[in-house]
Amino acid sequence: MTDNPRSRAWFRVAVVYFVVAVALGLVMGASGDHSLMAVHAHLNLLGWVSMTLFGLIGLAYPAITEGRIASLHFWLYNIGMPAMLAALAAQLKNVPGFDPVLGIGSAVTGISVALFAWLVITRIATRPFLDQSKEHKDRPDQSAQSGAA
Ligand code: HEM
Ligand code: HEM
Repeated sequence: MTDNPRSRAWFRVAVVYFVVAVALGLVMGASGDHSLMAVHAHLNLLGWVSMTLFGLIGLAYPAITEGRIASLHFWLYNIGMPAMLAALAAQLKNVPGFDPVLGIGSAVTGISVALFAWLVITRIATRPFLDQSKEHKDRPDQSAQSGAA
């Protein structure tokens, strides 16, 4: 498969979330305290599973990992998602004052997901599957497409 630095970054962050989420699951199981179940579930699903999918889809279609919108997707997700889940953990443990962080974190995560959807919808048809192109542009052009053939 092609090398893709953005996909490698997604995979590295994803396994960190996997370790944290599984550790929380083990603590929940051992203690019998399942109050953080929603945090565990979303660390696994938004962290491990979704990030791994971002990385894999990026390997298949590198165009969706290139340019400023892809960077925005990466950073908004990596800021909004942990903020949202930390605030959710605080709320579930009755620590006051984190509602705004939960709201803003969710919104930032949602915007990042919308950017990812936009990248997928607009770009997977613009370059061939497993394109080896090294070009980094927001909108891949026709010469990049034909040059990779
Ligand atoms: C060793 C690994 C894991 C342990 C020990 C563990 C443990 C737990 C525990 C104790 C609960 C609470 C169950 C309840 O209160 O009904 C739970 C819920 C959940 N876990 Fe895990 N888990 C593990 C891995 C995973 C993974 C890898 C995923 C997803 C990729 C996952 C997704 C979920 C989800 C979605 C729920 C919520 C289920 C529901 O809505 O009833 N877990 N887990
Ligand atoms: C910004 C993104 C997301 C937000 C704000 C969100 C929000 C929520 C909320 C409010 C609940 C109900 C929790 C409760 O009743 O305690 C929930 C449950 C659930 N969500 Fe999400 N969700 C998001 C993304 C996802 C994704 C991407 C997945 C799967 C890939 C997912 C899977 C689940 C599952 C399995 C449950 C039931 C388990 C639980 O109660 O924790 N969610 N989510």
